Amino acid sequence: MSKCRKMKTAWTVLLACLALLAIQGNAFAVEPAKKAAATLSNDDCSKCHNKPPADIAAAGRKHKTEIGCQDCHNGHPPTTRKIIPLCSQCHEGKPHFKLTGCLSCHSNPHTPLNITFGNNVTDACLTCHAGQIVKLRENKSKHTALNCSFCHNKHGKIPDCTQCHKTHAADQTVADCKKCHQAHMPKNVAYTDKTPSKDCAACHKKAYDLLTASKFKHSKLACVACHQAKHKMVPQCQSCHGNRHPAAMMAKFPKCGMCHNIAHDLNNLSTTASPAPVAGVAPTTKKSKKK
Ligand code: HEC
Ligand code: HEC
Ligand code: HEC
Ligand code: HEC
Ligand code: HEC
Ligand code: HEC
Ligand code: HEC
Ligand code: HEC
Ligand code: HEC
Ligand code: HEC
Ligand code: HEC
Ligand code: HEC
Repeated sequence: MSKCRKMKTAWTVLLACLALLAIQGNAFAVEPAKKAAATLSNDDCSKCHNKPPADIAAAGRKHKTEIGCQDCHNGHPPTTRKIIPLCSQCHEGKPHFKLTGCLSCHSNPHTPLNITFGNNVTDACLTCHAGQIVKLRENKSKHTALNCSFCHNKHGKIPDCTQCHKTHAADQTVADCKKCHQAHMPKNVAYTDKTPSKDCAACHKKAYDLLTASKFKHSKLACVACHQAKHKMVPQCQSCHGNRHPAAMMAKFPKCGMCHNIAHDLNNLSTTASPAPVAGVAPTTKKSKKK
């Protein structure tokens, strides 16, 4: 067959070759020369075409298992001229099939799921993925303005945050990012009660140093034990301690911090002589109302 391939542009030779093929393969019962092209079988194609059959064998997927060459290529030149099918002949009825330029992504119909696209695709993704765009739009961030394929540059690939961003601290790894961020709403920082304080320390060194150096019991607590779940949440002391002191005292000194300083470094009232005793107020003892 190599002889045929060398001369493939000459239609007369092609016809002769087809006829020869037919005779060799006993494929034609009657009048081989006249109806040669019309009675080609799928098995014949590879005798002249290398790449399409090889591609289909390797990655034809359902274009290999569900259909054959001739379901798409109906006839053959010179008898039939236009034998390149439109995708819409078989794919209809879904939003995805209303896209234009199918071959710009499915670049080779013989390997239909080997998909390539540029870094500027969003609309085409939305024909199949609905949830992500909603998150991106309802939680505006600089990611909202990026195209889907700017990050997912190969279909199905999940990028690492650190491909584009530095970590907050040298000892952080890419696995840490998702403890606080979601890609499609990166500014809504949220975390669990297992997030270690060192992750907060990356940006709040002062608070971290103050707390961990403090000799009071709060120093044993993780940042997220108090600042729960959502970034910038600030707890009320009472949410853990209740109304520990008599109302009369609290009326006079409405803020806990007036006596206890700040949460990260409490004044040790049992050993230091801070505020002057309030008339008629006996602060509860350590033992009385422990949580
Ligand atoms: C005897 C050799 C031979 C066989 C067998 C053969 N082809 Fe071809 N085919 C050719 C040649 C030669 C051309 C023309 C190439 C050109 O003009 O550049 C061609 C062209 C084509 C084209 C391109 C048409 C176009 O408009 O660009 C397709 C598609 C094609 N063949 C499919 C098939 C299929 C499917 C089979 C099997 C059913 C097949 N061929 C069997 C030799 C063959
Ligand atoms: C799902 C439909 C489909 C099937 C099945 C299919 N093709 Fe194609 N084929 C196409 C389309 C569409 C093109 C045009 C591709 C382009 O324009 O880049 C094409 C192009 C071709 C070409 C010309 C360009 C080239 O790549 O050489 C040949 C030859 C060809 N096919 C042969 C085959 C053979 C042989 C088979 C079976 C082993 C086959 N095709 C199966 C849709 C199909
Ligand atoms: C002759 C009919 C026919 C033509 C023409 C055709 N396809 Fe298909 N295609 C099928 C069938 C049948 C399936 C399997 C059922 C399904 O997924 O719809 C399929 C499946 C696919 C798949 C999924 C493959 C898999 O393994 O899941 C892709 C992608 C695809 N086609 C793309 C295309 C593109 C792009 C074109 C145009 C270049 C095209 N098809 C032209 C019949 C066709
Ligand atoms: C922007 C790129 C892009 C364009 C343009 C595109 N597709 Fe797709 N297509 C995809 C991706 C990505 C998938 C998902 C593949 C997977 O599931 O792995 C897909 C899947 C498919 C499937 C299999 C899944 C299904 O829903 O049946 C078919 C068939 C298909 N495309 C046909 C087409 C046709 C026909 C066109 C043109 C009207 C087209 N595609 C245009 C990217 C594209
Ligand atoms: C024709 C439908 C279709 C199109 C178009 C499509 N996808 Fe997909 N995508 C799928 C299917 C089906 C899966 C596999 C679903 C699964 O694994 O849960 C998938 C998987 C993914 C995954 C991996 C999901 C995971 O959990 O690992 C990502 C990321 C993705 N697609 C992004 C995109 C992007 C970005 C685009 C546009 C460039 C796109 N998809 C276009 C159908 C499509
Ligand atoms: C492919 C590159 C890319 C990847 C991957 C990526 N980002 Fe981004 N991200 C950007 C770009 C570009 C910006 C905008 C930068 C600017 O304008 O300063 C941005 C901005 C941000 C912002 C600031 C948002 C704002 O509105 O201020 C946060 C937070 C962020 N990214 C977190 C993440 C996290 C977490 C991940 C992983 C889940 C991630 N990014 C993955 C490219 C990327
Ligand atoms: C800034 C980069 C970036 C952009 C832009 C982006 N993604 Fe993602 N996407 C990711 C990362 C990283 C993940 C992994 C999950 C995570 O970290 O929250 C992901 C996960 C996914 C998944 C898996 C399921 C899920 O929701 O977690 C799909 C599907 C997906 N993205 C589709 C899209 C689509 C569609 C768009 C455009 C509307 C898009 N992505 C825009 C980075 C991005
Ligand atoms: C402990 C929670 C936490 C972890 C873990 C975390 N971040 Fe952040 N990230 C934040 C907070 C909080 C902000 C600032 C929000 C603000 O400014 O209001 C932020 C902001 C960002 C920004 C915006 C620019 C900036 O530096 O302020 C980017 C980009 C970013 N993070 C990427 C990452 C990456 C990449 C990782 C993984 C290595 C990561 N983050 C891990 C909480 C975290
Ligand atoms: C990427 C840097 C970054 C990380 C990581 C980070 N923060 Fe912040 N945090 C900030 C910035 C920026 C502010 C705003 C500072 C300002 O307004 O002066 C802030 C403010 C706060 C505030 C003050 C809110 C207020 O109303 O004053 C608290 C509480 C806080 N962060 C707790 C945490 C906790 C707990 C963690 C760890 C889970 C954490 N942060 C991780 C950057 C970060
Ligand atoms: C998330 C819960 C929580 C919050 C919010 C909280 N605390 Fe505490 N606090 C604790 C726990 C737990 C201890 C240790 C109790 C123990 O070990 O007996 C403690 C201990 C104390 C102690 C005793 C310190 C010592 O070393 O003996 C004081 C005083 C105190 N808290 C005051 C406050 C004040 C004032 C605030 C608000 C600024 C506050 N706490 C907010 C949980 C909390
Ligand atoms: C016992 C509960 C508790 C713990 C543990 C705690 N905080 Fe706080 N934090 C508070 C309270 C309450 C405030 C509000 C100021 C006040 O009343 O003390 C606050 C204020 C802040 C502020 C804003 C004011 C400032 O000092 O900059 C930041 C930032 C902050 N905390 C970060 C952290 C970080 C980081 C950690 C862990 C290293 C941490 N906090 C541990 C309760 C706590
Ligand atoms: C007028 C000063 C003052 C104010 C205001 C005040 N406290 Fe106290 N608090 C004290 C004194 C004094 C003690 C007793 C110390 C002791 O018994 O060891 C104490 C004890 C405590 C203890 C027990 C410490 C331990 O070791 O068990 C907690 C918890 C506490 N206060 C929480 C609060 C909270 C929450 C607020 C705000 C609602 C608050 N305090 C307001 C003066 C004050």
